[in-house]
Amino acid sequence: MCGIYASYSKNAAKKVLLGLKRIEYRGYDSWGIASLKSGNISVRKQIGKLSNLKDIVFEQVDLSLGHTRWATHGGVTKINAHPHLAKNKSFALVQNGVVENYQDLKEKLISAGYEFVSETDTEIIVGLLEQEMEKKAEKTLNPEIFAKVFQNLSGRNTIAVITNDGRLMAIRHGSPLLVGKNSRRDYCFSSDILSMSDDMEEYIIVDSGEMVSFNCATKEFVVTNIETKMVIVKKFAPIDHRAEVSEKNEFGSYMLKEIHEQATVLPRVVSGLEKNFLLATKMLKDADQIFTLACGSASFATGNTAYLLRKAGYKASAIEAYEADSYLNLFNKYSVCIVYSQSGETADTNEIVELMKKKGAKIISVVNMPGSTLTQMSDLSFMLRVGPELAVASTKAFFGQVLWGTTIYDILTGLKFNDIEIKINEFEHKLKEWFSNNEIQKKIENLAKDLTKHEHLFVLGRGDLYYASLESALKLKEISYIHAEGFSGGELKHGVIALITKNTPVLCLVAEDKNKANMLNAISEVRARGGRTIVIAKQDNDLYSDWIQLPDTRDYIFLSSIIPSQLMTCYMAMVKGYDVDKPRNLAKSVTVK
Ligand code: AGP
Ligand code: GLU
Repeated sequence: MCGIYASYSKNAAKKVLLGLKRIEYRGYDSWGIASLKSGNISVRKQIGKLSNLKDIVFEQVDLSLGHTRWATHGGVTKINAHPHLAKNKSFALVQNGVVENYQDLKEKLISAGYEFVSETDTEIIVGLLEQEMEKKAEKTLNPEIFAKVFQNLSGRNTIAVITNDGRLMAIRHGSPLLVGKNSRRDYCFSSDILSMSDDMEEYIIVDSGEMVSFNCATKEFVVTNIETKMVIVKKFAPIDHRAEVSEKNEFGSYMLKEIHEQATVLPRVVSGLEKNFLLATKMLKDADQIFTLACGSASFATGNTAYLLRKAGYKASAIEAYEADSYLNLFNKYSVCIVYSQSGETADTNEIVELMKKKGAKIISVVNMPGSTLTQMSDLSFMLRVGPELAVASTKAFFGQVLWGTTIYDILTGLKFNDIEIKINEFEHKLKEWFSNNEIQKKIENLAKDLTKHEHLFVLGRGDLYYASLESALKLKEISYIHAEGFSGGELKHGVIALITKNTPVLCLVAEDKNKANMLNAISEVRARGGRTIVIAKQDNDLYSDWIQLPDTRDYIFLSSIIPSQLMTCYMAMVKGYDVDKPRNLAKSVTVK
């Protein structure tokens, strides 16, 4: 979570404000900006979203550091917002991550007489730095002290500081950090490449264990390894990824726009990548065991991919990164792991990938963020190319992940790449037709309005649609804050049915396949107890209280079935007046564990 943005340039504070707005998707509990002017650091911070900010004026400064927070330790308050200023005002600090040994460190600081003003783990770093400066009788923070103290922290952390003698320093361990610069020798430090200001021309990725330090007085920029203290020469590369300018247009929210974009971005997922797809399928054929790995929505896409691989006769196990412990001893040099991650920066996922690589496993990743950490760690990496996904909840990236996995299945089961591209184009056409069917769209909207009066909603799916039911439920939870549970249609009668009473809404995903009869049984069992069955299917049936018609295509039933739930949850949130694009407590890139 959280976004870090720092600038050395004319009008640096304004650049930081704009940079923070571009990375606000990473966390938006609060924000803050520290600026250096004539040796004095001033800090402005506020709870709430930057996007709600009316025009704010900053004085002309050359050095500024900002942060958008997703709280891990300490409530969402102004005092807990970053940057945190040293008591002697010699530096201001921001953190992306969690100090896992914070309790032990905090106790030691308190017994040494340090008085905390905030509830954050971040302030512990400030206290440790000030304590070390005192020990060394240093009035300002230098790179040596900064690096030494950082090594006392455990957990994945990236921290950045500006100092009153004009230094900008940052150290990375885990959470992402990049440095941009231009021919005028302006610099920016940022959590992702897409948020860099347009005047940045080239960039480097800071690796874990590296410290980057810029000195305004000497204009010197240095990268060092904090263990060996050796200077590292890193070659800046041209910035060739710019955030596509994305407007909400007539949709009113990025999420609704991105749901509709699903009908047009699919061909980009595969076009021109036949060689890479064939290489991926060869790696899978040569593997003695296949794993899939992800978190959250992405884990439902990988779960579906593992399901398809098993259907194609491959030993594939789906792992949710936060529950990977029991698998660790299974990874070896004959393992291949398919990893999905929209951001490429999910701490839970990347940490397991690091462990897999240590065991010799090969990594195939599918990512939507160029230059992200996961792409650096992969043996073969695919960019989804569905365009920047600005809504916190994943829709078109998730869609692309499912299509990627289905394409792998199609190739493994003998479909020619060209035929796959034809199939995708036909599906795209059917989807566009479906989106333009006002009767269906209106019905989904009206159903959504009706469902807002419920607190609980269940989603049933089987086989090809099991993971679609889990993702539908997650969307309902994270966007419309309704308590929704997804589970197998076959599981209903083994206990869950106790929850079905009169008018309980049950969303049922029905495919025209061998599971249809079992799904109709489950739907009939729900109806027998007075439940309301809202069925997403190609054909209607007397058992259905409500029917949402799917596009008329036999292909990509998972992709077809997920869209009505995405739309429904979006409309429900809009009716309730919730922030569809930045739901409460969430962040787009979960860079903390
Ligand atoms: C998406 O709607 C969710 N907010 C979340 O579950 C997300 O899918 C998960 O955190 C994984 O993120 P990633 O794809 O960037 O790794
Ligand atoms: N752990 C820090 C806090 O709670 C930083 C969280 C973040 O990465 O935004 O303030």
